[in-house]
Amino acid sequence: MSVFLRLFEYARPYRARLVAALGAMVQYGAASAGVAALIQPIFDEVLPSRQNLVPVAAAILVVYLLKGIGAYLSGYLMTDVGQRVVRDLRNVLFRHILGQSVAFFSVQTTGRLISRITNDVGQVQRAVSETIGDLTRESLSLVGFAAVLFYYDSRLAIVCLTGAPLVVYPLVRLGQRVRRTARRSQEALEQISHVSAEAIAGHRIVKAFGAEEREAGKFERASQHFYRTCMKVTGVLSALPPLMEFIGGVAFVGALVYGSREIVAGRLSPGEFTAFMAALFMMYAPAKRLSRVNADLQQAMAAGERIFEILDSHNEVQDRPGAAELPRFGHHIEFHDVRFAYGGTSGRATLDGVSFVVRAGQMLAIVGRSGAGKTTLVNLIPRFYDVTGGSIGVDGRDIRDVTIASLRSQIGIVTQETVLFDDTIAANIAYGRQGATAEEIEAAARAAHAHEFIAQLDRGYEAMIGERGQRLSGGQRQRIAIARAILRDPPILILDEATSSLDAESEMLVQDALSNLMRNRTSFVIAHRLSTVRRADAIVVLARGRIVESGAHDELMARGGAYTKLHELQLQEEPTEIEI
Ligand SMILES: Nc1ncnc2c1ncn2[C@@H]1O[C@H](COP(=O)(O)OP(=O)(O)OP(=O)(O)O)[C@@H](O)[C@H]1O
Ligand SMILES: [Mg+2]
Repeated sequence: MSVFLRLFEYARPYRARLVAALGAMVQYGAASAGVAALIQPIFDEVLPSRQNLVPVAAAILVVYLLKGIGAYLSGYLMTDVGQRVVRDLRNVLFRHILGQSVAFFSVQTTGRLISRITNDVGQVQRAVSETIGDLTRESLSLVGFAAVLFYYDSRLAIVCLTGAPLVVYPLVRLGQRVRRTARRSQEALEQISHVSAEAIAGHRIVKAFGAEEREAGKFERASQHFYRTCMKVTGVLSALPPLMEFIGGVAFVGALVYGSREIVAGRLSPGEFTAFMAALFMMYAPAKRLSRVNADLQQAMAAGERIFEILDSHNEVQDRPGAAELPRFGHHIEFHDVRFAYGGTSGRATLDGVSFVVRAGQMLAIVGRSGAGKTTLVNLIPRFYDVTGGSIGVDGRDIRDVTIASLRSQIGIVTQETVLFDDTIAANIAYGRQGATAEEIEAAARAAHAHEFIAQLDRGYEAMIGERGQRLSGGQRQRIAIARAILRDPPILILDEATSSLDAESEMLVQDALSNLMRNRTSFVIAHRLSTVRRADAIVVLARGRIVESGAHDELMARGGAYTKLHELQLQEEPTEIEI
């Protein structure tokens, strides 16, 4: 029920329309009852003696006209409100999902989230625009018809309507079943979306490993599961209308037996009886539709629950109340006894007791074996995750006390995996600074040594690069990502293996660009090239989440410890000659 009320909150801004729709429904219900009521004068006056032909005919036309207008307006307005509610809900949901922290996305999958935005919201939309409209309109018609029944013969009406409460109980019970099954069917749909999104995004690997059959099999199982849960819902839903119809038949027999006796005894005119029967018959259509309404609503509630689950998932990384803007960075960044565990405070620590200070304008190199925690460490700076212990300060302010937007606006990142969007090269480079001029974009591309290959593309800067930049090579993608960071021109720079996909020649060129970029900036650089690391003002060596050594290159080499070992095993010397 609370799901229903929460959905209703979204309809609140459109209550004027809802009230208008309700008015139209009342008109529809009254006109429907009017049709039934007109049967009596037809049979008792017009047909036997052509008495009152003109007024009755006129009334028939008016009543149908009113009914038509009521049906049109109520249908249109309810659909409109439904669509508006769902549009708002979808927008809120998307914004909420985008605002979630990085941890949220390592648990949720793309396909599943998309399924919530499209399928679950769609399910709710059907409920709001069709079902709730039906519920109100048909209930009002039922009330109208019942009034007609009671008007002509209240005893007979009571006889015919006694069955009604008996119908309600199974409907409510069935509705509960439907809700559970509907939830499962939405989950199955989510699985379909997940399996297909993953296989399509990873299509190269699927092909390379000959896993088409396996993926298709996974999809078919999800499909089959969806089919089965859908049919379970359908099994319940399809049983309802015939059930209603049969109960109607029983009422019909009862009315016939009683009515024939009353007519013979002269207590009821044939016209009255016919009008009564007509109203009874006309009740079937709304009753049949109403019998489905509860089940339909339950389906929508199941979908609504799933939407609110996401909306209720709160974000661990968010602005504190009263968080201040971070002024432009100018002094130092300090890690103070930082501890971090992906599983929260209780989990195994990925970083433990990490402390260091980087002054403005300095370059810090972070080295260590794979899995040592290098990426994790730099992810803490823009608050992709919050520390689980200790603190990180920028110019002496804890980064949790400043707004996330003001913090991130001062940081440029080139990540280990390059992320580009399905847009033009120019738009991708300008992603971090909307409204950059063509000259600025080109200057950034030149600095990243990307201009040469861009100029050779058919449409140059206007070339579309495909989803995730698929139409570019790995090294080209990386250079676009570097140009994007250059154009943003942030005081703090994070480079996580930013040149790992480049060949030696491009890397030297890009290194050159990066060192220009890093000048007068504070940078955190994760690199495997000795030449890069050697240039750093300070180096920290991470092993299993702890800093085991730190200092400048020569100092660390003289010590002959962990850095020296890494130096031998991992850091690659610059090639003396460029191989062709
Ligand atoms: N989202 C995550 N959830 C849970 N554990 C994670 C997550 N990301 C990384 N880890 C774990 O944290 C540890 C450190 O990972 P991290 O990515 O920081 O390593 P790294 O030093 O950058 O390695 P590489 O050089 O291979 O990039 C790894 O053991 C990894 O399994
Ligand atoms: Mg890494």
